[in-house]
Amino acid sequence: MTSKNLKKVFVKTFGCQMNVYDSEKMIDLIKPLGYTLTDDIEQADLAILNTCHIREKAEQKVYSDLGRIRPVKERRLANDQQMIIAVAGCVAQAEGEEIVRQAPYVDVVVGPQAYHNLPKMIALAERKRDGEKGPGRGIINTDFPVESKFDSLPEQTESQAAAFLSVQEGCDKFCAFCVVPYTRGAEYSRPVTDVIADAKRLVSLGTLEINLLGQNVNAYHGAAPSGKGTWTLGELIRELAEIDGLRRIRYTTSHPRDMEDTLIQAHGDVDKLMPYLHLPVQSGSDNILKAMNRKHGRDMYFEIIEKLRVVRPDIAMSSDFIVGFPGESERDFQDTLDLVRRVNYAQAYSFKYSPRPGTPGALMDLQVPEKLKTERIIALQELLNEQQLQANRALTGQTLPVLLERKGKVPGQLVGRSPYMQSVHVIAPDRLIGKVLDIDIIEAHSNSLGGVLKQFDVEHAA
Ligand code: 5AD
Ligand code: SF4
Repeated sequence: MTSKNLKKVFVKTFGCQMNVYDSEKMIDLIKPLGYTLTDDIEQADLAILNTCHIREKAEQKVYSDLGRIRPVKERRLANDQQMIIAVAGCVAQAEGEEIVRQAPYVDVVVGPQAYHNLPKMIALAERKRDGEKGPGRGIINTDFPVESKFDSLPEQTESQAAAFLSVQEGCDKFCAFCVVPYTRGAEYSRPVTDVIADAKRLVSLGTLEINLLGQNVNAYHGAAPSGKGTWTLGELIRELAEIDGLRRIRYTTSHPRDMEDTLIQAHGDVDKLMPYLHLPVQSGSDNILKAMNRKHGRDMYFEIIEKLRVVRPDIAMSSDFIVGFPGESERDFQDTLDLVRRVNYAQAYSFKYSPRPGTPGALMDLQVPEKLKTERIIALQELLNEQQLQANRALTGQTLPVLLERKGKVPGQLVGRSPYMQSVHVIAPDRLIGKVLDIDIIEAHSNSLGGVLKQFDVEHAA
């Protein structure tokens, strides 16, 4: 048995930003049990896979990773070392006991709404001995508790130049392709005072940029500080902008239906709100949007973007697209390409439709053949990549304020973000991490920008 202070935890995170956020919280939660992080699975007394269920491939990756971890556990048990395997996240929620059936060496299964119970579950697993052949301990919790898990989470104590702050979770939209409403549950917004308190704490630790996080973040309707009624995301952003020392605010991910006017207007008059918006549209065809149960058409999407560009002409747009949703004809797909041409994206994500068990889409007739999905995604990505490169090129020759966040891969290089969300590489000393500095953009690549620091800033940035 390893001594209490030497226990190591290995964490692998799949999927979205919310999972990245949850993994950080889980690590904070189990620190009091004596665990410190390792990136070497062979050394792990505890391995946590924080999983994603959004597409079939993501789910398969979890099972293949578990298959790879199994012999590691067996080796460790043979050497009288322990290894607790925990599956967290949306696959845990969706599959529950099925995981233990398929991978009996898994010890703990914990859903995204229950992971504040993780310390108890791990402590229980530590006490339960492994059997002869090392089967798992089968400790499962996939509850959707009535009380908020946020109330039971530890406070962040480490400084990050750019930090995520979870303000909303879950989704009530039920898009016909999506598992989120089933795995993450109903929409929940944290009260305004809690969010403001967390934001102030982050800023006091040195955070300059806060990215407000939620599956459906612009549906935010947290309890107002007065106790009466609720605030919208636009109102929350205005209040956060008052925090001294906070330089930048972003939010993700939004739904077009919830892009209300106070939020759009905030892009025009809150300087700290960055000129970038990830606003998934999924398809450019009204027929498909209807079949997807998106609750908006293409014209509504164009109207939102027009309004945004009136108040903030340089706003950089991003989106998610799905090709090959059931019933998608060539004409429907052409409508998507047309929408992309009209909007002109700075960046975007696109996926082939992946039927998810339990969602209405999986039962629909007229599933699109894989070959056609592949052809369509290639065509769509070609157009999106071209737009992204053009958007990056348009910034060369400009001087942009960049928040330097971390060291780059090349020695002496730092990586930061432009206001428009591109990564910017620059040669600069490490002591400039955590500063917003003016960078002359001199290079545009498909996925990033290259810049040089103004000499003045190097000398004067203390
Ligand atoms: N198939 C393919 N893509 C999907 N997404 C969600 N569900 C599916 C699915 N079943 C995509 C959507 C969403 C993003 C996070 O993942 O584009 O916005
Ligand atoms: Fe999924 Fe639609 Fe909710 Fe987004 S809005 S999480 S795509 S159901």
